[in-house]
Amino acid sequence: MPQTDLPPFFSRTANGDLQIEQVTASAIVDQFGSPTYVYSRAAIESAFNALTDAFGERAHRICYAVKANSNIGILSVLARLGAGFDIVSYGELARVQAAGGDPAKTVFSGVGKSADEIRGALAAGIGCLNVESEAELRRIAEIASEMQRIAPISLRVNPDVDARTHPYISTGLKDNKFGIAIDEALPLYEWAHTQPSLEIVGIDCHIGSQLTDVSPFRDAAERVMKLAHRLAERGIELKHLDLGGGLGIRYTDENPPPAADWIEAIRSVVDADPLAHDLPIWIEPGRFIAGPAGALVTRVEYLKPGRHKSFAIIDAAMNDLMRPALYGSDMAIVSAGRGDGDRLEATWEIVGPICETGDFLGHDRPFELGEGDLLAVLGAGAYGFSMASNYNTRPRAAEVLVDGDTCHEIRRREPLESLWALEQVPPAE
Ligand code: LLP
Repeated sequence: MPQTDLPPFFSRTANGDLQIEQVTASAIVDQFGSPTYVYSRAAIESAFNALTDAFGERAHRICYAVKANSNIGILSVLARLGAGFDIVSYGELARVQAAGGDPAKTVFSGVGKSADEIRGALAAGIGCLNVESEAELRRIAEIASEMQRIAPISLRVNPDVDARTHPYISTGLKDNKFGIAIDEALPLYEWAHTQPSLEIVGIDCHIGSQLTDVSPFRDAAERVMKLAHRLAERGIELKHLDLGGGLGIRYTDENPPPAADWIEAIRSVVDADPLAHDLPIWIEPGRFIAGPAGALVTRVEYLKPGRHKSFAIIDAAMNDLMRPALYGSDMAIVSAGRGDGDRLEATWEIVGPICETGDFLGHDRPFELGEGDLLAVLGAGAYGFSMASNYNTRPRAAEVLVDGDTCHEIRRREPLESLWALEQVPPAE
């Protein structure tokens, strides 16, 4: 049974309405409509600060993984806190810049960077390209040389560590497409070292997402440090260690470690090593920062009770939040405000209006519900809106950032016509 503790900065008013900081979900829906993604600014800041505090005096950089939630309103909050960014496309770099983030504090990950993306990133003054293959390394060397620039690079090594998470979001195993096998990285570093258009600045790994145990992080850090030693023996000096993102959050009954345990697991390896003593540690967290800060608020359109199954049909769907359909993820769904409809107690399938059986946001949820009620899917701040689509020609939801008692609409609900604005009817003949 999914538990429904509210995350920090979420609470209930005396009459049971859900409140984000000091604003009720119903006030948000009255003003911005439904469904709407709602984020707490304080929650984002407090997650970022928890990581900063865990590093203490240790030199570090927190590169927020933009893919988790790439709204420029969210990015700007993080940029103001001094965050760096982890991006996986030129588009994400453009967002970072639009939000006031610093390309020099940005790392560019991803297995398929196009030549244009590499050129664009170098022109913008990217902090580091995390290289995922020999072919990419050669391409970067060539492009940088054509541009008469020196590309700052780090090899993303695949340490072959089992992150013990969902197979779709595990990235650090030999079987995964990511990174360069750790035992094949040395000759590539040696080659890069001879290239005038490349500057080796670091070493990088990212083993997966939604990890609820810190030991794989420790194992990966150990393997990365072993390689750093072999590089040092060959006179290849690193300027940072990037140990990726991946710290999990609580969706229902998971018990992820606190931020401090994650950082401590990394530091237990790195701080003890004289080679890494002064090396800044970079991390790339996405979900931990944005996930618990957000909820998808949605209205119950219809109740369809039945002897076999009872369906609550809501106005949000798999296009708004893909995680349940795509990964079978259980996300907590809580009541967020009462409508005027007659109330009915049942175990509900929480489903959207899309024409697919996979269109559900939750199974077997016991609730007393009425039509017009509001529900909130918790933990939806990461990989929620950023993975949304327009399937079934559904405009994407509005996004609202709550700051104390103030709401900022950080993305308008999409106007319908914008969905086909780039399309054309061909001539009749
Ligand atoms: N760095 C790299 C290179 C990554 O590939 C990722 C996530 C991160 C950092 C951030 O990981 P995080 O701290 O957020 O766990 N859509 C999936 C998650 C995909 C994660 C992909 N990579 C989900 O909804 O669970």
